[in-house]
Amino acid sequence: MKTPSNLSDLFALSMTKFFRLIADTFFAKRYGHRAVVLETIAGVPGMVAGMLIHLKSLRNMKTGYGPQIREMLAEAENERMHLMFFIEIAKPNIFERFLVIGAQGIFMTFYTFMYIFFPKTSHRMIGYFEDEAVNSYTEYLELVKNGSVENINAPQIAINYYGLRSNAKLSDLIRSVRADEMHHSEVNHSYADNFDKKDRKSKNLKAVETINNNKVA
Ligand SMILES: [Fe+2]
Ligand SMILES: [Fe+2]
Repeated sequence: MKTPSNLSDLFALSMTKFFRLIADTFFAKRYGHRAVVLETIAGVPGMVAGMLIHLKSLRNMKTGYGPQIREMLAEAENERMHLMFFIEIAKPNIFERFLVIGAQGIFMTFYTFMYIFFPKTSHRMIGYFEDEAVNSYTEYLELVKNGSVENINAPQIAINYYGLRSNAKLSDLIRSVRADEMHHSEVNHSYADNFDKKDRKSKNLKAVETINNNKVA
């Protein structure tokens, strides 16, 4: 896990620990249910970031945002697919369904404002969330391996999505999903790492443009 190097990182990590504590208290070792509920939250940040960067590109009337927009929207789609896999494995109870509705309203609002004002911290926080998702899926995989959770057949929808062998098991599914979470972690941490650099670079470019324009004028 990336060590926090400033106040922004520390805030992102504290938020992550706070949410992890809530999840641990609520779900304990019920990893199937935990995956279903948390994947409904995981599908939010990519969509919010993708939309806000898209709007920024429209406002600035500039190219260069495409790869990041597509990466963020792909992350949201990938998380939605994780939900579709785990809904085949654990059926949420009525209380969890209400929890999902409430959590979506709160998290969507919170993350939208956070991303508008603190995009770098937002990417760092999602990077840490993804690290925790990797840890959770590793713990889930351990329970499957030691027989505490039955290693049932992987759902067909997951077999098709990942191109797994036809007799793939829950353990194969968890490994594939965990690999996705590792990718999300790398992407979000790298956006946070390079945020200032990019910002400085574009400011520098703008400064150069102004100088050149003045010269022409
Ligand atoms: Fe996920
Ligand atoms: Fe993820």
